[in-house]
Amino acid sequence: MVRACVIGWPVEHSRSPSIHRYWLAQYGIEGAYEKMAVRPEELAEFLGQLAAQGYAGANVTLPHKEAALRAAESADAAATAIGAANTLWLDPDGTLHASNTDAYGFMTNLDAEAPGWNDAGRPVMVLGAGGAARAILHGLLGAGATRILLANRTAERAEVLARAFGPAVELVEWKDRNRALAGCGLLVNATSLGMTGKQRLEIDLAALPNDAVVADIVYSPLETELLAAARARGNRVVDGLGMLLHQAVPGFERWFGVRPEVTPELRAHVAASLGAA
Ligand code: ATR
Repeated sequence: MVRACVIGWPVEHSRSPSIHRYWLAQYGIEGAYEKMAVRPEELAEFLGQLAAQGYAGANVTLPHKEAALRAAESADAAATAIGAANTLWLDPDGTLHASNTDAYGFMTNLDAEAPGWNDAGRPVMVLGAGGAARAILHGLLGAGATRILLANRTAERAEVLARAFGPAVELVEWKDRNRALAGCGLLVNATSLGMTGKQRLEIDLAALPNDAVVADIVYSPLETELLAAARARGNRVVDGLGMLLHQAVPGFERWFGVRPEVTPELRAHVAASLGAA
């Protein structure tokens, strides 16, 4: 029986078991996907024991994503560029590989839900400068975005990202975010604002073209205040659940040998588990 797990601290909130267990049942695979609460100071030892404990690999969530990359013996281009890993797998010889599938998940979902989002080659506005924003910048640049306007409450964090990703990333002051939406083809909220229990995302969409796409990484609630406001004025919207589902695909394929599909049934299954959370 092949086993994988998600490692976090805390890990209780993770939706990964609901996704992977759905696929295991769907494809009739005799496998297991577990939740492992691992303290930061115990991560290196836990990863060192991954093979001995019988795991084929793991997902990694907060606060372990950077440390997991450091602990792995090899890393793919996305994990290296993003500076964090969310997916690990072991080779038959025991080598620990790190990947980051967040950019893949965001872009695959964006392409599926808002095809042609970059056809007009207009600027993209990204809000946030944490790990999620870093993954999204990597994905957008890889997909051909040529001008990304980046706004973050803490300017220094946005400056670090602009330096890392080069001149296609332009800084916008947090207070100027509303005006900077003029002429943009895509707005992405990569902050945690708007999530259940967090503060509201204060933004006025008036300057954003009506044919722009608005994407949110927040998936709880599924329809954030941002997405509701965007939908009401005619913008195409992309929610955060799709990114979460798609980022799980490469890991499942590595560990269990089947490339799983993101279907409306999977979406409904995970959305129901969010409602119950
Ligand atoms: P992640 O790695 O999941 O992206 P993070 O590193 O904690 O998480 O980043 C959270 C993002 O939400 C950051 O861009 C953060 O802005 P700061 O860099 O200024 O902290 C943003 N964020 C969180 N709370 C915010 C608030 N009240 N107002 C504005 N931005 C906020």
